[in-house]
Amino acid sequence: MFARSLSCALLLLGTALAQSSSYTDPDNGIVFQGFTDPVHNITYGAVFPPLAANSTEFIGEIVAPIANAWVGITLGGSMLDSLLLVAWPNGNSIVSSPRYASSYALPVWYSGPTLTTLPSSEVNATHWKWVYRCQNCTVWNGGSINLSGSPTLAWAVSTVPVATPSDAKSTFVEHTDFGFWGESVVDAHASAADYSTWASG
Ligand SMILES: *[C@@H]1O[C@H](CO)[C@@H](O)[C@H](O)[C@H]1NC(C)=O
Ligand SMILES: *[C@@H]1O[C@H](CO)[C@@H](O)[C@H](O)[C@H]1NC(C)=O
Ligand SMILES: *[C@@H]1O[C@H](CO)[C@@H](O)[C@H](O)[C@H]1NC(C)=O
Ligand SMILES: *[C@@H]1O[C@H](CO)[C@@H](O)[C@H](O)[C@H]1NC(C)=O
Ligand SMILES: *[C@@H]1O[C@H](CO)[C@@H](O)[C@H](O)[C@H]1NC(C)=O
Repeated sequence: MFARSLSCALLLLGTALAQSSSYTDPDNGIVFQGFTDPVHNITYGAVFPPLAANSTEFIGEIVAPIANAWVGITLGGSMLDSLLLVAWPNGNSIVSSPRYASSYALPVWYSGPTLTTLPSSEVNATHWKWVYRCQNCTVWNGGSINLSGSPTLAWAVSTVPVATPSDAKSTFVEHTDFGFWGESVVDAHASAADYSTWASG
């Protein structure tokens, strides 16, 4: 039953899907295309290299109030057969974990993506923030992100910590909430110069 509701809910989505917009993170100057979930006040942002580069990487961030023990996104918009990125705080650092699920069970570790946590990531008394570079991330086993489209992405959060926060391959139990937004990837392409500056931290 793990996250079954996530795919069912997608089918029931009406026209009220929240859309991403452009914002600048004041801590790192990166201009993201992103979305803040109003219930949990978690922000999900992404920025891609120029469309003409047809690159397979992007820079993303998750900014979450500390009550959210782990947060994940699915780049394909569903739990199954999508690249999943999951992150959580561990002391003063962020642990990140690429995952994949072929059934509604605990997503397994997924090899292929190179995740680099960028320096503006932080953990403080109220929030944790994961700013990351995800290379080899727009194409995965059975799917891809449409770089000139506005795909529906999904998030999942839990107030229950993962079993072993120091271990990127930790087990965790099913999310306590999830939702969707429309990520305007077509509007999320930076200049080559800006992207290169941001990706190098
Ligand atoms: C939401 O989180 C941001 C940090 O991303 C913080 O600055 C802001 O005060 C929070 N807003 C609310 C209503 O908690
Ligand atoms: C873009 O890159 C993807 C994945 O590497 C490839 O499948 C696709 O053919 C490329 N598209 C163009 C227009 O080059
Ligand atoms: C990219 O990721 C795929 C899995 O999605 C993997 O099979 C492939 O080896 C990776 N390529 C590189 C260059 O790491
Ligand atoms: C804690 O981190 C959040 C997210 O990065 C940030 O908005 C907030 O300003 C930080 N709080 C302090 C006191 O630095
Ligand atoms: C990507 O999205 C654009 C804009 O919606 C659309 O025209 C194009 O057909 C899509 N490409 C694929 C491969 O689905």
